[in-house]
Amino acid sequence: MSVSAVCPGSFDPITNGHLDVVERASVAFDRVVVAVLDNPNKSGLFPVPERLELIRATTAHLDNVEVAAFEGLLVDFCRANDISLICKGLRAVSDFEYELQMAQMNQRIGDVETVFMSTSPDWSYLSSSLVKEVAKWGGRIDGTVPDVVAERLRQRFAGSDAG
Ligand code: PNS
Repeated sequence: MSVSAVCPGSFDPITNGHLDVVERASVAFDRVVVAVLDNPNKSGLFPVPERLELIRATTAHLDNVEVAAFEGLLVDFCRANDISLICKGLRAVSDFEYELQMAQMNQRIGDVETVFMSTSPDWSYLSSSLVKEVAKWGGRIDGTVPDVVAERLRQRFAGSDAG
């Protein structure tokens, strides 16, 4: 039986922590879809097409990984794309409470199971928000995000005192 999993998120932008989970999911599952939430009420730093481009660039070495955007409920995206599992990274116990709520709701409303992957300790402190804040003030972000993302963040904040 072939198993497809989705790695959903905002990915604004993708970090090395996200990439670690996607790479390990690509080993664990036959097909992995990285799905970017397109939320019309929340614009973010990077527009969704640019987030997709950055994810595609950084996952190009993974043959069984696809990248897509979705609106609305994740379970509807799963149904439409023949996906039976949601794969989420857990950085710390603090992530768990909300992730468990979402997993239980997705199981209830869509009959879709969630599997949690423990984030590598190398990246357990990392979040897109933190990286953006450091980049905004000209701090060193190398090694926390893929090079192409670091470059894009530097361009985005170039010439601004505080973004
Ligand atoms: O990277 P994030 O912001 O933590 O990702 C959260 C995401 C996109 C996975 C979550 O908000 C989501 O699945 N949103 C889609 C709407 C939905 O299905 N809501 C019900 C979840 S129980």
